[in-house]
Amino acid sequence: MEYITLKNSDLRVSRLCMGGCPMGGHGWGIVQEQELVNAVHAALERGINFFDTADTYGLGQSEMTLGRALGFRRSKAVVASKFGVRVENHVTFYDNSPEWIRTACENSLRRLGTDYIDLYQMHYRDGRTDIGTVLETLKQLRQEGKIRYFGLCNLTCADLKDLWPYRGEFVSIQDQYSLACRDFEEDILTLSREMTLNPLTWGSLGQGVLTGKYDRYATFGSDDRRSREVYVNFHGDKLLKNLEIVEHMRSIAADHGKPVSALAVRFILDYLPDSVVLCGTKRPEQILTNAQAMDWHLSSEDLGRLDIVSR
Ligand SMILES: NC(=O)c1ccc[n+]([C@@H]2O[C@H](COP(=O)([O-])OP(=O)(O)OC[C@H]3O[C@@H](n4cnc5c(N)ncnc54)[C@H](OP(=O)(O)O)[C@@H]3O)[C@@H](O)[C@H]2O)c1
Repeated sequence: MEYITLKNSDLRVSRLCMGGCPMGGHGWGIVQEQELVNAVHAALERGINFFDTADTYGLGQSEMTLGRALGFRRSKAVVASKFGVRVENHVTFYDNSPEWIRTACENSLRRLGTDYIDLYQMHYRDGRTDIGTVLETLKQLRQEGKIRYFGLCNLTCADLKDLWPYRGEFVSIQDQYSLACRDFEEDILTLSREMTLNPLTWGSLGQGVLTGKYDRYATFGSDDRRSREVYVNFHGDKLLKNLEIVEHMRSIAADHGKPVSALAVRFILDYLPDSVVLCGTKRPEQILTNAQAMDWHLSSEDLGRLDIVSR
């Protein structure tokens, strides 16, 4: 396993993180609780110690399942959760007010069955609360021993001006990034460099399209978010373009004797400096297959080819 110590912290994490969005059991088709628990155990045994979740995934279900799966193994894991997406009476909105951060944190601790969260991340900006106020609240929670470090998500270069006074306070920035979506590459590179953060990538497998198991006829039931056109990776020309990328990935993966999904992960690890790759996981085989991305490298020719086909 490859490990990295996140900047401005002593958090030593595997460069593959088990993503907990499917663990919410909502909007990813069939997901079985026992398979998820087994996946957490398989991950730990394989040396993966980093688990990402959020209060909003399955409205708390993901945190509950992760907490239950970790159980007495809690101290072996680095647990990352998020705050700021709030759902009331079926309406979703963002809230980073100090009152809500406190409430959200207490709720997450209870659901996770733990007394501390290692990395507590602001899921989105709410358009009202300034970063300084968010940071003050996070520092109070840290003083109380409830959280250890702070992270950011879904920000762009436009946020840099507001973040700049707080360099060194946060440890990570999560953004969507994969061979299927390089739209935020400049944002991730700039924010991580200027703010000394580690990039954590989400949607790293293009929500599954980069695993090589889907074709142009891919369809999903209404209980799967990917049936909606907003999940562009599985629709229209974008799907066809992704499948073209997958064909290149297939041949490079075969040269290395690796699964296509592992290549999707390896590209990010080798291309984005100091990155950690989040992969949504439904079953043990998925995280173990993705772990085949560890401990080897793509050549500069491979990276160049993947760079060109995915631009
Ligand atoms: N900060 C944020 O705003 C944000 C937003 C989104 C996600 N995230 C985090 O990032 C994580 C990763 O993103 P994501 O889950 O949306 O998408 P993803 O990792 O790109 O794709 C996950 C999906 O790919 C499929 N898959 C995974 N491994 C596979 C394998 N080895 N072989 C075949 N299929 C495989 C599974 O679905 P199927 O088997 O059904 O195809 C899985 O649900 C999330 O779980 C979450 O922790 C954060």
